[in-house]
Amino acid sequence: MLKFPHNFTWGCATASYQIEGAWLEGGKGLSIWDAFSHTPGKILHGHTGDVACDHYHHYKEDIARMAEMGLSAYRFSMSWPRIQPTGYGKRNPEGIRFYSDLIDELMKHNITPWVTLYHWDLPLALQMEFDGWLNPKVADFFCDYADICFSHFGDRVKHWITINEPWVTAILGYGQGVFAPGRISNSEPYQAAHQMLRSHGKAVDLYRQKYHFQNGKIGMTNNCDWREPKTNSEEDRAAAQRALEFFLGWFADPIYFGDYPESMRQRVKERLPQFTPQEREQIKGSNDFFGLNHYTTMYASDAEGKKVLSEVYGNGGIAEDQNVELSVDPKWKKTEMGWAIVPWGINRLLHWIDERYNHPDIVLTENGCAFDDQLADGAVHDPQRIDFLKGYLSECLIAIQNGVRLKGYFLWSFMDNFEWASGYTKRFGIHYVDYESGKRIPKSSAEWYRRVIQNNGF
Ligand code: GAL
Repeated sequence: MLKFPHNFTWGCATASYQIEGAWLEGGKGLSIWDAFSHTPGKILHGHTGDVACDHYHHYKEDIARMAEMGLSAYRFSMSWPRIQPTGYGKRNPEGIRFYSDLIDELMKHNITPWVTLYHWDLPLALQMEFDGWLNPKVADFFCDYADICFSHFGDRVKHWITINEPWVTAILGYGQGVFAPGRISNSEPYQAAHQMLRSHGKAVDLYRQKYHFQNGKIGMTNNCDWREPKTNSEEDRAAAQRALEFFLGWFADPIYFGDYPESMRQRVKERLPQFTPQEREQIKGSNDFFGLNHYTTMYASDAEGKKVLSEVYGNGGIAEDQNVELSVDPKWKKTEMGWAIVPWGINRLLHWIDERYNHPDIVLTENGCAFDDQLADGAVHDPQRIDFLKGYLSECLIAIQNGVRLKGYFLWSFMDNFEWASGYTKRFGIHYVDYESGKRIPKSSAEWYRRVIQNNGF
């Protein structure tokens, strides 16, 4: 029996655009994902999040299921345009009431809410009028929005995540154009990332100054795959290190050290923006915990003199800038996303973070997998997902036993949902969603996870 530390947080995670639906209800404004998903050709099969899991109307039922599973925490995100339809100025009382009721319902069932302020659904007006994350003004708007959330929900919410995976927004949204807002550029990712870091710094500062009495914790969630040197050569080891700096150091270095990694400064040069001394001060030390989303591992080798595949999905930055070639071991099994299943990668990444950032409290705010789950005779058997979870959780526990301060684990995801550019074709849930009827059916992994929580291990 593998036992986790007493007080370990067991949760599930979701995000507003992926589950809520009700895209034109309750006074909500439009987001860039509403616009993106309605743009022909952007999402597989033309799927949209208009209805999604219709969680907006079914949240009580969903929370009852969470309670039955014994979840100690639930991570969800708030839709900024549901709270502030144009992203600035007027608030929407109905949207505020929705999240307030949701939080109350969680508290009623003893489930601790973990709230993400921004999980990619930027108010469309901010994109149209201000160019979204490219505009420094958006940091002020984000801070005002955060202020609304802290003031309305902070009496009950004690765990805040400012921004989810700025890497994804920067690279996939502003670099490759495969996610909203669909921009393709080799300089905008650095500008967008810079404004997200400024926004995070400002919101944390506000929270600490104005809402100190609420006694909550706040941090950013970053995603990072593990990068294993392909060979033991000095070049490949340097390439793996550089890849991690371009992926995670890009965001975590400013937060823990006050500036971007030197490797980025050298390679990206004038395309990498500079922080003012005041911004540096504000951003440095702005994490109460290290939020981490982790899904997969790739080999890294030095790309000097080789042709680099800039379109490699999952690359940790703009390929030409970091000059790293990525590959996988053909023996590694893969999930439906095509992501390699490499449990030991999470262990190495946790140690890398622990050492580089001086033993922070780490919370895995997402980990999970998509498989081609089939509904048969009213049930869904997903032994592959259980194997995946066993593998990754075992490695988490080894890291904890070796001194890494991992405090919680949030499984992605509570239920199948809108998987961004893949639409509804990829199922990450431990609950199967029948999108025709809206019915949720617990997969065998849900029952397995229930027992893990109950036993604090497996
Ligand atoms: C993360 C993201 C989630 C979810 C997951 C699976 O990058 O935060 O919204 O979609 O990946 O792809």
